[in-house]
Amino acid sequence: MIAVKTQGLSKEFRTGFTMKKVSALHNLNLEVEEGEIFGYIGPNGAGKTTTLKILTGLIYPTSGNAWILGRDIRDVAIKKDIGFLPEGPYFYDYLTAKEFLYFYGQLFGMRKREIEEKMDELLNLVGLRHVKDIQLRRFSKGMLQRIGIAQALINDPKLLLLDEPMSGLDPIGRAKIKEIILQLKEDGKTILFSSHILSDVEMLCDRVGILTNGKLTDVGSLDSLLIPEVKSIEIVTSHMEENTIEEIKTITEKITLRDEKMLIMVDSEENKERVLRIINRNNGRLISLTPGRKTLEEYLVEKLNRGVAL
Ligand SMILES: Nc1ncnc2c1ncn2[C@@H]1O[C@H](COP(=O)(O)OP(=O)(O)OP(=O)(O)O)[C@@H](O)[C@H]1O
Ligand SMILES: [Mg+2]
Repeated sequence: MIAVKTQGLSKEFRTGFTMKKVSALHNLNLEVEEGEIFGYIGPNGAGKTTTLKILTGLIYPTSGNAWILGRDIRDVAIKKDIGFLPEGPYFYDYLTAKEFLYFYGQLFGMRKREIEEKMDELLNLVGLRHVKDIQLRRFSKGMLQRIGIAQALINDPKLLLLDEPMSGLDPIGRAKIKEIILQLKEDGKTILFSSHILSDVEMLCDRVGILTNGKLTDVGSLDSLLIPEVKSIEIVTSHMEENTIEEIKTITEKITLRDEKMLIMVDSEENKERVLRIINRNNGRLISLTPGRKTLEEYLVEKLNRGVAL
């Protein structure tokens, strides 16, 4: 089943004295499969939060439609299947972690017993059982994000929408959140989260969507987006004459001799082809071509350099 589907979803805001139109989201067609971790990435102001707010029903789209687990988002009954962690959440400072979760459980109409059972399970999951009676104003940022995730899970939702769950956290805090997200996937949940932190997205996601100025510019698995790029070629040197090596050196200086073999590093597909032609022409023997995948960061920086505004 499709967990999230949007069709032609658009949102315009009118701001300021002149009521100038701001197009925050433009004709978004997005599909998130059930059971996957989907990373929603894009620069500040791209429209990530706007999308998540529309899906949770906090704001309405100007046009277009959206469905969650096959049901129209206008159907309030879907709310019980959604858990939401807002961006930079602000919680009730004077409630303890336990009281806070209790409060949210009651909002969902859960019974006392039910809430207490769920609460124990969630406090364990997010590693906050030892501080369950501490007021939230004493929590660190990382602890607040984790109690926020526990809050999003109180109603045992099928779909989790997390807006920047790792922002502002140190590496240990981020690692903890990543661990929780992976555990949730194991438990069969679908997770759609927005982030700026590309390495985290890369490590966690089955698929990503890249949003730029309210438009979805790329969507797919990391393998399909980050097209494998050959970065090194390994060849036998025994059949290689000195002048062949000299010829290859005009293309790349990165040549290492190792035993009988020669390792040649190239930085583009084009140069790979050129080196291969020289090797063939001089009867060299090719042992292997090792493709090195680009990182998501390299991919986005390259796009930026090609003039695609991010
Ligand atoms: N309530 C609002 N009124 C007017 N404009 C808004 C409102 N909310 C968002 N916008 C505008 O919509 C655009 C998208 O904002 P949004 O918050 O969705 O971006 P984002 O991708 O979440 O960015 P960030 O990475 O900074 O969180 C921005 O230009 C923003 O200024
Ligand atoms: Mg945002």
